[in-house]
Parts: sequence; structure tokens; C-alpha cells
Amino acid sequence: MKRRIYLDHAATTPLDKRVLKEMEPFFSERLGNAGSLHSFGQEAREAVEKAREDIAKAINAGQEEIYFTSGGTESDNIALQGVMKANREKGKGLVTSAFEHHAVLHTAQHLEKKGFDVNFLPVTKEGFVELSEVEKALHKETVLVSIMHANNEIGTVQPVKEIGEMCRERGVLFHSDAVQTVGKEKIDVQKMGIDLLSASAHKFYGPKGVGFLYKRAGVKAEPIAFGGGHEKGLRSGTENTPGIVGMASALKLAVKEMAEDNARERKLRNKLIDGCLEIKDGWLNGAREPRLACNAALGFDFVEGESMVLMLSDKGIAASTGSACSTKSLEPSHVLRAIGLPHVKCHGSLRFTLGRNTSAKDIDYVLQELPKIVQRLRKISPLGGK
Ligand SMILES: Cc1ncc(COP(=O)(O)O)c(C=O)c1O
Repeated sequence: MKRRIYLDHAATTPLDKRVLKEMEPFFSERLGNAGSLHSFGQEAREAVEKAREDIAKAINAGQEEIYFTSGGTESDNIALQGVMKANREKGKGLVTSAFEHHAVLHTAQHLEKKGFDVNFLPVTKEGFVELSEVEKALHKETVLVSIMHANNEIGTVQPVKEIGEMCRERGVLFHSDAVQTVGKEKIDVQKMGIDLLSASAHKFYGPKGVGFLYKRAGVKAEPIAFGGGHEKGLRSGTENTPGIVGMASALKLAVKEMAEDNARERKLRNKLIDGCLEIKDGWLNGAREPRLACNAALGFDFVEGESMVLMLSDKGIAASTGSACSTKSLEPSHVLRAIGLPHVKCHGSLRFTLGRNTSAKDIDYVLQELPKIVQRLRKISPLGGK
């Protein structure tokens, strides 16, 4: 059988088999709607509330501060649109960064079109939002600051605690898109001064299509969709019981195994980066640390990222050119542009993201195949580099 190596865990992770086992009964015999009054419904409600408690504990929040959603995109939308609309009397100011995920970036652009005053902060070439930039952007009418915890393309971890403290001192709300860090980095919303936080289960070995929003008690937010008033009116729609149960189970496992997983992945990741940097005219996008343990965001001159991805795929290796969400677009990645990479270099980017099942053998195989692929592509490249 053809060898298949999955190195695109930032796009999505496989569902952990232990999690699947926990979810299974909720698809069939424990079928109730958590909104129903009968015993089937109550059983589902109990499972949903237990999951809420477990998730709250994992990030040091209160149970009543967790809202279930369909994933990271919806959580980001409720955080940005919901908070900006509900706090109009305070002002119209939203501060975010130029390299947020599109779920934040496009929502912020939409709000700007609707008359809100949005400030997109620059980032350093190492891939960080600077505290001084946040400070400069804050003004009397600033309602919300939204800065991601770790960047999904280049993996750099942002100084979220420092930003949170600054926001709290100034009486400004702080949201962090932590889709790439929940289950991978320690999160304590109290200590980190976070008022709202977005997460998505399929990034930490849970099911796809389910996520949560943490919203600190007392923070005002309007719903962005209307219906039966579920989740205290903030997110209407029947609760996805199997998904919610799976998300809580996956998060508990991820938190428990975090230190071990990260240590193993970081070691393999460093070996991969070092090996790739031996290829002539190759580079690492963003600083090496602080960076997610799983992330190796590389670039190679004179080759196209898409061609590398396709040729790697032919060898059974799954990688990405950057964000999974922008593969259909020929525009260079806004993240790479934000860190100041010239247009032509953006096209040569290649992202590997490791996971729990990645082995040393997998990395050896990539390091055996990639140099040959780069060399072959350079031979036929109109960009030069032969
Ligand atoms: C940082 C970040 N935010 C938001 C999302 C969107 O999450 P979801 O796929 O659950 O909608 C992603 C997914 O790639 C992400 O990486």
C-alpha cells in the first residue's frame, strides 16, 4: 500500500478513537434533543452541561461562560459582530491585526463597511503583534481588541497575556482567536485577561463542525442569528450533542497529554526545520520560538508552493501552502504579506504541521523526498534557481 503521511494538522486533526467511542451513543440510543422535557432530552441536556463544565475547567472559566457554536468561524463572528453591535453606546473602535484568520479579518472588514472604526495593526517580520502598536491604537472609543493566540499559517504565539493586561487596565474588551492553541498551549482566561475566546474541536482531535465561545460573565454581546433562543439567546439552534460531548472529551485528553505531545512534536519539528534549511535558498517564515510545537512554515525560492504540495501528495505526503482556507485563491497569503515577505517569495511557501501520530520515520521520509522535489521543480522553473 502507498505510504500516506499526514502533515496538515493545522487544517484539521483526525478524530481521536477514544473520543469517537464517547460520542457514539449520542448518535443512536441517547438520541434526545437537549431542549426536550422527557427523559431522552434530559439525558442529552446532562451530557451537554457536563461537557460545558469540563470545557470551562480546561480554560479556568465559569460553566455559564461557555457557549457552544458550530466552530471557530462562528465563534469569531459572534465575538466581533456581537460585541461591537451590543456596545455601540461606548464607541465604534475595533482593533485587530493584519494577519488574523479570515474568520476575524473578513468580519472586521465587514464591520468597517458598516461604519465601525477598525484598526488593522501591522506585525513584525518575525510574526508578532507588538504591545506598543496595540497601545498606540487604543482610544476613548475603542470597544474591543481582537488578537489571535497563535497564527494558523506561521504558528507564532502572540503575547496575549500582556495584551490582555493592557486592555483590562484601559477598560477595553479583549477577544482572542485561540483556534490553533486550545488543547496545545496552556490557557487560563483569568490570568491572561481574556474576555472572549474562540475555539474549534476539529483542531484538537475532536469532531468537525463544533466549537465554543468563552464570553466572560457581564460582557454584552448580541446574537448574530435568531431562532429558539438556545445558549442563553446568544446562539440559537439545537445543540450538537455528539459533537459537544466529543469536543469536551477531546479537550480533556489534549490538556492531559499536552506536555508530552508538545515535547515530542517540537523535537521532530526542529529536525524537520533543520533538514529543510539545508536545502539551498530555503527559509523559515516567522521566528522559530515562541511558535506552536507542531508548526514548520517554510519557504523555498524559485518554486511554487502549490507544485510542491502536489508533488509531495504524489509521494503520499500531505502538506499545505499556508492557510487551508485560502488554497482556492491565487492571491499571496495575507499572513506572509503582513510579515513583509516579498510577493514572489510568498508563492514559494510550504507549511508542515505535525500531530500526535507523526513519527521520526515520517520526518526522515519527508527529508528524503522534499530536496528532490525542490530540485526537479527548479529545473523547470521560469523563476530561475537551476
Ligand atoms: C486561527 C483560526 N481561526 C478560525 C478558524 C476557523 O475555524 P473553523 O474551521 O472551526 O470554522 C481556523 C481554521 O483554520 C483557524 O486556524
